Amino acid sequence: MNSAIESYIREVVQQAITEYLQGHPTMSHSVSGGRQKYVVANWKMNLNSTDIHTFLEKFNTSVAVQKAAEQHRVVLCPAFPYLHTVKSMLNTQGSSVRLGAQNVHWLDSGAQTGEVSADMLLNFDCEYVIVGHSERRQQGECCCQINKKLKQSLAKGITPILCVGESLEDYEANRSIQVITKQLVEALKEIASPKLVIAYEPVWAIGTGKTPSLKEIERIHIAIRLALAELYNTEIAEQTSILYGGSVKAEQAKELQQIAEVDGLLVGGASLKAESFTEVVLSFLAKGMEG
Ligand code: PGA
Repeated sequence: MNSAIESYIREVVQQAITEYLQGHPTMSHSVSGGRQKYVVANWKMNLNSTDIHTFLEKFNTSVAVQKAAEQHRVVLCPAFPYLHTVKSMLNTQGSSVRLGAQNVHWLDSGAQTGEVSADMLLNFDCEYVIVGHSERRQQGECCCQINKKLKQSLAKGITPILCVGESLEDYEANRSIQVITKQLVEALKEIASPKLVIAYEPVWAIGTGKTPSLKEIERIHIAIRLALAELYNTEIAEQTSILYGGSVKAEQAKELQQIAEVDGLLVGGASLKAESFTEVVLSFLAKGMEG
C-alpha cells in the first residue's frame, strides 16, 4: 500500500469537505440524474426455502414494487444455497427484481473448501455481489482479499457492492473519513475501471437501531465521491452509486431519499419480511415513479 498516496487523498478529501461545509462546493454534488438508484436486501444467514417462498409470493405481487424494480435496481442477496430458489421464482413470476450474492472467492476454481467462485454465481445469473461487509471483515477478511474479490468480480462482469464504514471508536474519535478513505484506497488498488457500487455502512449502525444523522451520512457520501474523484476522475465519481446501510427502516428510507448524495440503501433486518422491505423499497424509490 502506498501510504503517501493514501495520506494525499485523505488530505484532499478533508480539505474538500471543509470547503463544502463552508458553502463552497468543489464538485456538482447535486448531480445525481445519471446514477442508478438501488435498494438491496442483505438477508445474511437468514430465511430458509419456506421463508423465501412466503417472502417472494408477497413481495412480487406488489405492482408498485415491480414498477420500482423496472425503473431502478431492487436486488435480493440470499444465502448461497437459495440462489437457485430465488432466481427460479423471480423468473416464474416475470419479476424485474435482481439477484445478488453475499460473497465470492477470487480464484476461478480449486481446493477452497466452503468457498464459491464467480463463475458459480454466474450460473445463477447473479448480477451483484456484496464484498467487504463489516461482518466478514470482523471474521478476518482483509483489505488484500477484498481487493482480489473486487478484481475477480469485475473481470467476470458481476457488479460488486463494496462496503466501507467506520467502527464506533473511530466515529467517536472523528476519524470516519480517514478510515473510509483508507478502506477505499486499499480495496481499489490497481483497479483501473471501478464499475461498482459502494455502500457506506457505519459498523456501529448495523443491526443496532442507531443511525448517523442525515448530515453525517451526506458528509461521508460526499467524502467517498471526492475520494473517487481523486483516485480516478470526476466522471467516475459522479457515475458511481453510493448506498447507505445500517438500521434502515421505511422511516429512514423516506428521509434518505431526499438526499441527492444517497443513491440507494443496503438493508439487513428490515429486508427479512416482505411487508417491511416493500415499505422500504417504495419509500426510497417511489419518487419519480408517478409517471
Ligand atoms: P441492518 O443491516 O439493516 O440490519 O442494520 C445492514 C447490513 O448489514 O447490510
